[in-house]
Amino acid sequence: MPESFDVIVIGAGPGGYVAAIRAAQLGLRTACVESRETLGGTCLNVGCIPSKALLQSSEHFEEANHKLAQHGVTVKGVSLDLARMQARKGEVVTANVKGVEFLFKKNKVTWLKGKGRIAAPGKVEVAGETYDAKNIIIATGSESVPLKGLEVDEKRIVTSTGALELDKVPKHLVVIGGGVIGLELGSVWKRLGAEVTVIEFLDRLIPTMDAELGKQFERVLAKQGIKFKLKTKVTGSKLDAKGVTLTMEPAAGGASEELRADVVLLSIGRRAYSEGLGAQDAGVALDDRGRVVVDGKFATNVPGIYAIGDVIAGPMLAHKAEEEGVAVAEIIAGQHGHVNYAAIPSVVYTWPEVASVGETEEQLKARGVDYKVGKFPFTANGRARAMAETDGFVKILADKTTDRVLGAHILGADAGTVIAEIVTAIEFGASAEDIARTSHAHPSLNEAVKEAALAVDGRALHI
Ligand code: FAD
Ligand code: NAI
Repeated sequence: MPESFDVIVIGAGPGGYVAAIRAAQLGLRTACVESRETLGGTCLNVGCIPSKALLQSSEHFEEANHKLAQHGVTVKGVSLDLARMQARKGEVVTANVKGVEFLFKKNKVTWLKGKGRIAAPGKVEVAGETYDAKNIIIATGSESVPLKGLEVDEKRIVTSTGALELDKVPKHLVVIGGGVIGLELGSVWKRLGAEVTVIEFLDRLIPTMDAELGKQFERVLAKQGIKFKLKTKVTGSKLDAKGVTLTMEPAAGGASEELRADVVLLSIGRRAYSEGLGAQDAGVALDDRGRVVVDGKFATNVPGIYAIGDVIAGPMLAHKAEEEGVAVAEIIAGQHGHVNYAAIPSVVYTWPEVASVGETEEQLKARGVDYKVGKFPFTANGRARAMAETDGFVKILADKTTDRVLGAHILGADAGTVIAEIVTAIEFGASAEDIARTSHAHPSLNEAVKEAALAVDGRALHI
């Protein structure tokens, strides 16, 4: 007789595995269903972790080739061992996914191996067995969005999964979509020697972030040699033995042109994934984009079925999924789980990095909020100069009346780490004045945050 559980989580990505661990910590009998060979979901297997491993390795190669000389460090005979770089990436992934397996054992979470299907409310079918569950959490994640006229073979036309596995550096990589995946993985292959062209439908990169970031970011990446074709759409592709010919035209319509590539990366977004889950058969409502509809407590319209992570609305980020995983487990256990969506940072791990939290200027204008802007460039930051990393700026947006921090947008070295203090400030409801009055170590990149906070009231000291 199969076991019964208080909670069965379907999907072991950052949302699902964290929900399972937290539920088990709270004393609930918990299982997690995963159809992959390993735990950790998209993020650990084919997303966050392998992409950051390659970003780190390729940046070291870039430094050895182009950056160390200005520091008086001469490196001769730099060469690329791509097989070793890929093997290291594999080792990093393995260590992480094994880590989740260890955490499941430690917390007594049962891993049900196979594809999970909701047979009925309170019943989950896995590998021919049906398990009873008082509560079901859907955490099935997302998949990449296809484009008409392009057949993904993960060799010549690839999604991020194929782009992480290339065994030789393409001569010309064409990236469709100037968002996070396109720019991170485009950067990896550019640093390793590819010519990279990014085709973006809209008039700027990373269009969901603050507009000023997109424009400056484009300039910085163009300086690194990445080429851009903005306001352009791809209309078709032809494969031959040597590569791919793309046809494209202006987004607004017009004469079409062709572009040759040996590898094309399709990165025009991701969409919720719930194929074969049986959610709709069980009566669970999906929205017009296939996302599971939930209320403020992650409950679907079917009692006892919850959903979190990429499969519901909101930014598709691992840490957002994790926060929701903790919150839903606490709610199921009768506690008051909560996620503050105003304080979820978003980071593009290129070099320099781009980091954002809270509202953009465009969003504040659209909401009719009166706000103040404080900006500080890294050219005026001593540590950035010492590092020879002076591209970019910190921008803080604060409410004009209350001075409360509403958003922050950073382009610069280590922006993803630098922004953490502003995320904490927003979580605590801090004002720009609070940040400005906080002592910041000198010399540090975070002094640019303090200066931007001072600049909110026109009193920056170093510019
Ligand atoms: P997922 O991680 O997608 O996990 C869902 C799991 O459910 C999968 O393992 C899947 O196999 C399993 N599953 C699905 N259906 C079933 C079923 N019926 N039965 C059993 N198992 C099932 N986010 C960041 O915050 N930072 C980053 O740096 C970052 N980098 C990324 C880089 C790339 C290339 C990609 C593609 C994504 C990246 N992301 C990043 C996004 C991040 O990976 C996702 O937001 C995150 O993985 C979502 O977690 P999740 O738990 O909702 O779903
Ligand atoms: P994205 O939404 O970030 O970017 C997609 C881009 O493609 C947009 O700029 C969009 O305007 C453009 N686009 C859409 N249709 C197009 C078309 N037909 N032709 C040309 N351009 C088109 O999506 P992406 O990069 O695929 O990443 C998916 C998600 O994965 C991200 O939104 C993010 O949530 C997550 N992710 C997060 C990372 C991080 O946190 N560092 C890293 C990688 C992915």
